[in-house]
Amino acid sequence: MKKIGIIGAGQLGQMLGIGAKNIGAECIFLDPNPNSPAASIGSILHYDFDDLAGIKKLCSMVDVITYEFENVPVIAINKLDKDFVHPNSKSLEIAQDRLKEKRLFESLNIPIAKYKEINSLNNLNDAGSEIGYPFILKTRRFGYDGKGQIVINSKHDTHDAWSKLKDHKLIAEQMILFDYEVSAIGARNISGDIANYPVTQNTHKHGILRTSITTDKNNTITKKVYELHSKLIKKLDYVGILALELFVVGDNIIANEFAPRVHNSGHWTIEGAATSQFENHLRAILDLKLGDTSFTKYTGMENLISNIPDDLMNLNPKEYFIHQYGKTAREGRKLGHVTVTAATEEGRLEKLKKVQKIIYSSS
Ligand SMILES: Nc1ncnc2c1ncn2[C@@H]1O[C@H](COP(=O)(O)OP(=O)(O)OP(=O)(O)O)[C@@H](O)[C@H]1O
Ligand SMILES: [Mg+2]
Repeated sequence: MKKIGIIGAGQLGQMLGIGAKNIGAECIFLDPNPNSPAASIGSILHYDFDDLAGIKKLCSMVDVITYEFENVPVIAINKLDKDFVHPNSKSLEIAQDRLKEKRLFESLNIPIAKYKEINSLNNLNDAGSEIGYPFILKTRRFGYDGKGQIVINSKHDTHDAWSKLKDHKLIAEQMILFDYEVSAIGARNISGDIANYPVTQNTHKHGILRTSITTDKNNTITKKVYELHSKLIKKLDYVGILALELFVVGDNIIANEFAPRVHNSGHWTIEGAATSQFENHLRAILDLKLGDTSFTKYTGMENLISNIPDDLMNLNPKEYFIHQYGKTAREGRKLGHVTVTAATEEGRLEKLKKVQKIIYSSS
């Protein structure tokens, strides 16, 4: 039986662990948190992520290593034989820093929002005339769920924003008035085969992903999105699932960021695709044939944030798939998700609305 080492034991690790069972593999996790979601699916080595003794021990127990979050210290990954860890450390390093990411996108002619590196209040004051208001001041590193971001509407906002974020490396980014947001999730295995999922349309609130639905109708967008995704995956000599987040404005697409890992907007693939993103990530890093990525039903996913309403448990479990990660409830924390599937788009919308009504009437 193949053994896979996973750095991080959060909900993405938990879902990778479940995906591993489909291919007869086993996951062993590394995470300092004693109450990690993946404890329900495999054993966990409790070491800090930057404790090289932990990584070394994990290495001695498994055939290959991957990670489920992007703040893994690059230095730890660099210590490993490059054939032993996927995605590679270069992809990780670039994804960890918005400035490096933007420069890579530019070098590949991937369209992005105007941006400016910010190292001083003066830089920030100049950003308005260079990229236009409103813009977003973002930390270059360690952002997630919209954290470390402040919208700057005019010069009056710069002083406050600077005092809040000045201890971080920063970037200012033009605010895109998008029609909608999408993500492109695709896998590449060691042999170089690529398999892409249908484009997912995503809705965020306050920077946190709330809803994802599969799309199949906008072929122009799908084609453009995967041209960019393939450029990226090939340039990085990438192995595993890569998720590229984009804004859509009319027929144009603008890249936002990429994640070198399985992605929240791909949770629908568990029930809605022939092969889940989790299984395909593992297939890719084990150099197995990639599984079918087409969707089998119209699928929608709603994140459960801050609390999990009891009324969800009254829904038919054959039509409403409720995933609970086993995390302690906390404001703004992703605690689970619900996936709905239907034979028609209307059926999906009806089911999603039912779920949203329960969630929003309880919050
Ligand atoms: N330049 C922008 N223009 C318009 N909206 C933006 C922009 N940047 C971010 N947003 C909004 O904020 C959300 C979160 O931003 P982003 O993806 O950059 O941050 P993050 O904290 O890394 O999020 P994630 O949870 O995806 O890791 C985006 O999905 C989008 O809805
Ligand atoms: Mg994002």
